Amino acid sequence: VARITFAKDLRSAESVLFIAPKRAFDGDLPVVGLDDSARRVLLALAKDLSGANGSAASSIAETRPRWIGAGVLPDEVARYNAPSRPEAIARVTQASGIGTKEKPAIVLVLEDEAHLLPAINAIGRAFPLYSRRSKKEKPERITVVPVDRSGAPIPVPATAQNIMTFAREAALLVDTPPTDMNPAALAKIAKKQLESIDSVKIRQIAGDDLLEERLFGVHAVGRCALDAPRVLVARKKAKKKKSAAPHIALVGKGVTFDTGGLHLKQRGMMETMKSDMGGAAAVLGAFRALAGRGYGGELSLVLCLAENAIGPGAYKPDDILELHSGKTVEINNTDAEGRLLLADGVSFAARDLGAEIVFDAATLTGAQLIATGLMHAAVVTNDDALERMMVEVGRATGDLVHPLPFAPELYQAELQSPVADMRNSVKNRNNAQASCAAQFIFSHIDDTGVKWVHVDLAGPAFRNDRGTGFGVALLVEAVQRASEN
Ligand code: BES
Ligand code: MN
Ligand code: MN
Repeated sequence: VARITFAKDLRSAESVLFIAPKRAFDGDLPVVGLDDSARRVLLALAKDLSGANGSAASSIAETRPRWIGAGVLPDEVARYNAPSRPEAIARVTQASGIGTKEKPAIVLVLEDEAHLLPAINAIGRAFPLYSRRSKKEKPERITVVPVDRSGAPIPVPATAQNIMTFAREAALLVDTPPTDMNPAALAKIAKKQLESIDSVKIRQIAGDDLLEERLFGVHAVGRCALDAPRVLVARKKAKKKKSAAPHIALVGKGVTFDTGGLHLKQRGMMETMKSDMGGAAAVLGAFRALAGRGYGGELSLVLCLAENAIGPGAYKPDDILELHSGKTVEINNTDAEGRLLLADGVSFAARDLGAEIVFDAATLTGAQLIATGLMHAAVVTNDDALERMMVEVGRATGDLVHPLPFAPELYQAELQSPVADMRNSVKNRNNAQASCAAQFIFSHIDDTGVKWVHVDLAGPAFRNDRGTGFGVALLVEAVQRASEN
C-alpha cells in the first residue's frame, strides 16, 4: 500500500523521477535538488523521448541520487483532453518503474498551478491501493514534489490531497472482490467513512424496509442475493439556514456484482462486473470531500446498493414493478438493472429529500464505451448550462466527460410497453442506447422540476482491469460550481 506524501524538496530520496513537459526538458528545466552530473544524465535521458501520451526512461549512474528517471509529457494536447495531461502523467509514472525503486520520489514540474489537482490525482491512480498478492508490494511510500517552471514548490492544499486520497479509496472499493464487497460490506465501509465527518446524518434502509420507502426497484434487483439490498442516505444541512446555494444530491449505482440476473450475462461479459458499483464509489468519495471541507449548501448522498443475482426469488422478465416515482415498468431485461436502482434513487432524492439539483453516477451501459470510450464518461442532462459546465470541469479535473443527446420526446418511444408505463430496456439496441438508458432514469423525475446530471462512467471507472477512482474529482468540482450559479 503506497502512502503518498508531499514535500518541498527531495530530502532523502534515493530514486527520483522527473516529470515535465518536453519543452521544459529542452529548455530551462528547474534544478530541484540534482547536482550537475545527475542533471546531465536526466537531460540525456529525456532527449529522444516523445509520444502522444508521454514516455519514460531511466538510468543508474554515479550520481546522487543513483536512480534517475525522466518522464516526458507532450507539449500539446487535443481540445478534448485535459491540459494538465493526467493520462500522460499516470503513464510515465507507471512506465518508469519508479514504484519498484528504493526511497522513491517524483518531481512534478507544472506549467500551471491549476494543473495540481489532476496531476496528483493521476499519480495517485498510478499506485493502486488494493492488492492480494502474497508478497508486500512496492512502494510502501512515495514522495511527490510539485514545483513550478522556476523550481519553486507548489503547496498542496488539504482539499486536493483529500480528493486524491478519496479517489484512490474509491478505486480500492471497486478492486475488492464482489463476495467481500457485498452490499452490507460496502454500506459498512461507507458508514464508517461518513461518520467521521462533522454533522453528517446517516440512515440505512435495508431489505424489506425498502418497500416501506417505496424503493421497489432497489428491492426487486437485490432481493434474491445472499446479502440484502439497501439504500444508504447521508445528509449534511446547509451551513446557514437561509443558504442561497441549492440543495444538491449525489446518487450512485452500487451493484456490487452484476450477473445480469435471469438474463444471465454471457461468459466473458460477467468478468469485471465487480466494478458495477463504480458510480456509488465515486459519489461517496465526492461527498466525503465536499462535506469534509465545509461545503456551504445542503448536500445529500444516496447509495443504491444491491447484488444482481439469480435464484428462485429473482425478479423476472415480464414482471411489472411500480417504482418510487409511481410509474410502472415492465421488465424486458433483468440485466438493465442499474436504471431501476437509479430511477428509485433520483426520485427519492428529488421527492423525499427535496434536492433541487441531482447528480447520478453509474456504470450504466456497455454502450457508453462504444459512444465515448474509456477516457470520457458520457454525460446526459436536462440543463444546457450544466452540460457545458460538466465538459469544462472534466477538462479541469482530468475526469473527462462528453455529452450525449438528451431528448425525451425522441427516446422515450424506445421504452414503450403494451401493459405498463414503460419497459426497462430498449426495442432497438442501435438507437442511442446510452441516451435511452439515461432517459429511463429521467422519466422518473420529469415531473419534479429538478435539474439533473447523469454521468455514465462504465468505461472510465475501470481500465486495464483496475478501478480508477474516476468521478470523485469531477463531482466535487461540479457540485461546487453548480452551487455557485
Ligand atoms: N453494468 C452493466 C453495464 C456495463 C457493461 C458496465 C460493461 C461496464 C462494462 C449494465 O447493468 C448492463 O448490463 N447494461 C446492459 C443493458 C442492456 C441489457 C439494455 C448493456 O449495456 O449491455
Ligand atoms: Mn446489467
Ligand atoms: Mn449493471
